[in-house]
Amino acid sequence: MARYAVVTMPGDGIGNQVVPEALRVLKAVGFDADYIPADIGWDCWCAQGNALPDRTVELLTRHKLGLFGAITSKPNQEAHAELKPELRDQGHVYYSPIVTMRQKFNLDICMRPCVGFIGNPLNYIRKRTDGGFDEPQINTTIFRQGTEGMYAGIEWTNPPELVRNALNSHPKFRTFAQVPGPDIAASVRIVTRPAARRIITAAFEYAKKKKFRAVTICEKPNVLRETSGIMEETAREVQNSYPDIQLWSTNIDAQLMWLNKNPEDYNVIVASNLFGDILSDAFAGLVGGLGFAASGNMGDTLSVFEPTHGSAPKYAQLDPPIVNPIAMILSAAMMVEHVGETEKSDRIRRAVAAVVREGKVRTYDMMRVAGGANSIAQGAASTPQMTDAILSKL
Ligand code: NAI
Ligand code: MG
Repeated sequence: MARYAVVTMPGDGIGNQVVPEALRVLKAVGFDADYIPADIGWDCWCAQGNALPDRTVELLTRHKLGLFGAITSKPNQEAHAELKPELRDQGHVYYSPIVTMRQKFNLDICMRPCVGFIGNPLNYIRKRTDGGFDEPQINTTIFRQGTEGMYAGIEWTNPPELVRNALNSHPKFRTFAQVPGPDIAASVRIVTRPAARRIITAAFEYAKKKKFRAVTICEKPNVLRETSGIMEETAREVQNSYPDIQLWSTNIDAQLMWLNKNPEDYNVIVASNLFGDILSDAFAGLVGGLGFAASGNMGDTLSVFEPTHGSAPKYAQLDPPIVNPIAMILSAAMMVEHVGETEKSDRIRRAVAAVVREGKVRTYDMMRVAGGANSIAQGAASTPQMTDAILSKL
């Protein structure tokens, strides 16, 4: 029997193209695992009215380690229209299975490293006053709270009477009191102290391990006084246990401006769910974009690793596939590191770094050519060719 069992969930679209590439790398590096395929995503929704089937939940519960590709989500009306006819009008509501998975298994620590590889033509550069350019080394990891905040899923269009009454009791709701129910939607931003403490502590622990001098809490406490307020307060409290690490505080809007000015100053940023989602895509853009953005969702006992990107349906049918497998491969490396096999995860990252530095094999996104059936004719590597190059450096 292998040392680890990994539940593999390719999901939809390009998830099916990139997960097998990550498995090739894991096998080549000698990661001793059995892989158990599990269904997730749009086909499950259409056929069962549930995008995260029970069998997948059971497998994750049993094996505690998952590798996920991507899923497709569509707006409510389309989701309903694509349901199998006998399931329609039965009250099935589409929920994103990855959001559900994070909530069901309390995968509250979402870690998203954005680290620039030397030689990546997509790296951020900055103009100097003398007209030249700097390419600062970016090494930022976003710790995004994964289960609460704006993505807690507590929302209504036409809120029921009880909710409406509760809203009416808030003085600020007076402005909206006359708006008819069907014309009003509300999402509730929930932040709890225990979850805030867990994500902020994870960020400090990481800063300590990597010897970074500061952790930045990125919220908006001047406006979101209650929810961002708890995040800030908790960050100050947690920092007391880490006297060698500074706590910096930025507002989400200002932070997005700073990331165009001095992104290299931020090594560890912690934020609530929505802000962390925004920050991690924004920082990913500085180090090559979605083709390079890896992530891990970690709970107390169970962890699932996935690229930040989605299912990119417009590329899903291309043969050979053209998308960049690096984000998925780096997510697999995070999984390997998470279980403590750091020698192997380092080898994977060094192999990716070597391919990027050499610059001979580049997928279309790294060449700034349009993605499509013509990408390969324009010199772009296919998805498996990129993996081959990485394997050759292992
Ligand atoms: P997306 O991430 O799928 O694609 C956006 C664009 O990024 C693509 O068109 C492509 O140009 C580029 N891209 C993405 N991955 C790439 C890769 N590996 N290599 C090269 N280029 C890459 O986001 P989009 O188009 O907003 O959403 C498509 C579907 O994916 C939607 O149904 C959405 O709901 C879903 N989605 C799922 C996520 C998940 O499974 N965690 C996350 C984000 C979106
Ligand atoms: Mg996102």
